[in-house]
Amino acid sequence: MNFNIAVLPGDGIGPEISQQGVDVMSAVCEKFGHTVNYTYALCGAAAIDAVGDPFPEKTYEICRDADAVLFSAVGHPKFDNDPTAKVRPEQGLLAMRKKLGLFANIRPVETFECLLHLSPLRKELVEGADFICIRELTGGMYFGEKYQDNDRAYDTNAYTRPEIERILNTAYAYARRRRKHLTVVDKANVLASSRLWRKIAQEIAPQYPDVNTDYMYVDNAAMRMIQEPRFFDVMVTENTFGDILTDEGSVISGSMGLLPSASTGESTPVFEPIHGSWPQAAGKNIANPLAQILSVAMLFEYFDCKAEGELIRNAVNASLDACVRTPEIQVPGGATYGTKEVGAWIVDYIKKA
Ligand code: IPM
Ligand code: MG
Repeated sequence: MNFNIAVLPGDGIGPEISQQGVDVMSAVCEKFGHTVNYTYALCGAAAIDAVGDPFPEKTYEICRDADAVLFSAVGHPKFDNDPTAKVRPEQGLLAMRKKLGLFANIRPVETFECLLHLSPLRKELVEGADFICIRELTGGMYFGEKYQDNDRAYDTNAYTRPEIERILNTAYAYARRRRKHLTVVDKANVLASSRLWRKIAQEIAPQYPDVNTDYMYVDNAAMRMIQEPRFFDVMVTENTFGDILTDEGSVISGSMGLLPSASTGESTPVFEPIHGSWPQAAGKNIANPLAQILSVAMLFEYFDCKAEGELIRNAVNASLDACVRTPEIQVPGGATYGTKEVGAWIVDYIKKA
């Protein structure tokens, strides 16, 4: 295959982990006889500084014309501390999602046996947890009508039938490839938008008789996720609930530096780590590149290149087993490895495999 990849390193630790993702992508392509071209593009604070727009038109065109986007992170403290800032790096992310029609955000929660002790949950609760959250990404409050004056403000949680149907169908497709259990998460006891979600889910469910569908209110789902994370296989939910639940899910594994994600929809798919830009660590060679590297595994798997994805996952597991780890997950007294060193070890493993 020939891959045309748009690379968006973004801000903070973004460029450092991006480089490791690119190196792993290249090594795997070489091994399996694929060719790959990279086109770099600006986004986030880096793009605001350069051209005044967090997702410039040029970046959009590069993404649109690519087979996949390898995205890293956006965000900079100089915007966080300035509530009057007119443009923010995060707007670039939202613009990218909307313009590429990335309505389905897939966030897996997996555990790594050797890191279970880092989980905030007891080992016996979290061991073996393995689920994915499918978050609707281009609707709801994030994009609905908004208003703000000095004394009153609102955000509208609007959803249409086609928006709900397509994300539910995506979720069922994932459930069919996994343990065939789908949990539809909503707040149908209070919200009209959730009642429409549940109504449509109940209409669609009979089309997937092989999948066991259940319904859960979001407050209950938040609780269940920490009481019994193994309960879940695939959960699907609207944009805002998904934002909150996936942060909760991401820490269950012990380090959010390990979790990748995919956003797919109408145009080019985007693969990115779940974590943010960690500006305090920028340039220090301490950020964990594994989430970015596992995003490359998700990229290959999206294109049905299963062996390529598996090799990356094996390499990551081997690096953890060999204690070639960045400081936040290193065992006490273990040697220190930086972002580059972990990336280089994994590339080496792939070459020798
Ligand atoms: C995420 C992030 C974004 C979101 C922010 C950075 C706008 O929290 O991808 O989950 O809220 O969607
Ligand atoms: Mg979030």
